[in-house]
Amino acid sequence: MSSILITGASSGIGLQLAFDYAREGHQVIACGRSQEKLDANFAGTSIQTLCFDTTNKQSVLSAACDVGDLKTLILNAGSCEYIDDVMNFDSDLFSRVVQTNLIGTAYCLEGFLNKLSAGGTLAFMSSSATMLPFARAEAYGASKAGIDYLAECMAVDLYRHKIAVCNIKPCFVDTPLTKKNTFAMPGSINTQQASQYIRKGLAKQKPIISFTPWFIFGLKMLQWLPRRWIQIIQTKENA
Ligand SMILES: NC(=O)c1ccc[n+]([C@@H]2O[C@H](COP(=O)([O-])OP(=O)(O)OC[C@H]3O[C@@H](n4cnc5c(N)ncnc54)[C@H](OP(=O)(O)O)[C@@H]3O)[C@@H](O)[C@H]2O)c1
Repeated sequence: MSSILITGASSGIGLQLAFDYAREGHQVIACGRSQEKLDANFAGTSIQTLCFDTTNKQSVLSAACDVGDLKTLILNAGSCEYIDDVMNFDSDLFSRVVQTNLIGTAYCLEGFLNKLSAGGTLAFMSSSATMLPFARAEAYGASKAGIDYLAECMAVDLYRHKIAVCNIKPCFVDTPLTKKNTFAMPGSINTQQASQYIRKGLAKQKPIISFTPWFIFGLKMLQWLPRRWIQIIQTKENA
C-alpha cells in the first residue's frame, strides 16, 4: 500500500496532518529530526516514523532508502527566525532559515520525489507571508518565496509525469513556531482547522492551497496599495 510521507511531523501542522490522515485510514510516515519527539507522539499508533534532519543531505538520502512507494509527499518541515536589527544584518541567521526551509526541501526532493508515481501529489509548505513584505521577515519571507518559485517550476516539469504539485500558503496557525511571535496575529487558526484546509486542498490537487479565505482576501487588497504606502503602514505597525 502506498503512503503519505510528512516532514516536520513532530509538531504543529505536520503533527496534526499525521494524526488526521491516519484517522482517515491512510498509511502515514511521520518524519522529524528527533526520534524522542517522534516516539512521544506516535508510539502505539499505526503511524510509522522516520528520523532525519532535512538540512543534512546524507541523513535525508539514507532515510529515503527505507521508504517505499508514496502517493503523497508533504514537505512541511520549516523554521522561522527574524532579522531584529536590519542594520546589523545577520547573514548566519539568514543562511540557517534558507537552509532549513529551502535547501532542506531540495534535499527531500532528491531523496523522496522518485518514490512518487503517476497520480501522486507533491505538496510544498510556503506561507501567505510571501504575498506582502513584512517587517523582520527578510529570511523567512525569502525562503518561502523561494518555495513559491520552486513549486511553480516543479508543477511545470512534473506535469508530464502526472504528478500534481500543490503549494500550501497558510495564514497564522497557532503552533510552537508562532507561539514565539510577540506581535498580533490577526485571524490565527488552530492546527485542526489548518489540517482541514490542507487535506481538502490536497484531495482536489489544488495548485495553491491558501487559507483562510478572508485573510487571503485582505492580503490581496493590500497588494493593490502602492509599495510606498505599504512601507509606511508596516513602519507604523512596528514602531
Ligand atoms: N504556523 C504558522 O502560522 C505557519 C504559517 C505559514 C507557514 N507555516 C509553515 O508550516 C510549516 C510547519 O510549521 P509549524 O507552524 O507547524 O511549526 P512547528 O510546530 O515548529 O513545526 C515545524 C516542524 O518542522 C520540523 N523541523 C524544523 N527544522 C527541521 C530540520 N532541520 N529537520 C527536520 N525537521 C525539522 C520541526 O521539528 P522539531 O519538532 O524537532 O523542531 C517540526 O516538526 C513550516 O514550514 C512553516 O514555515 C506555518
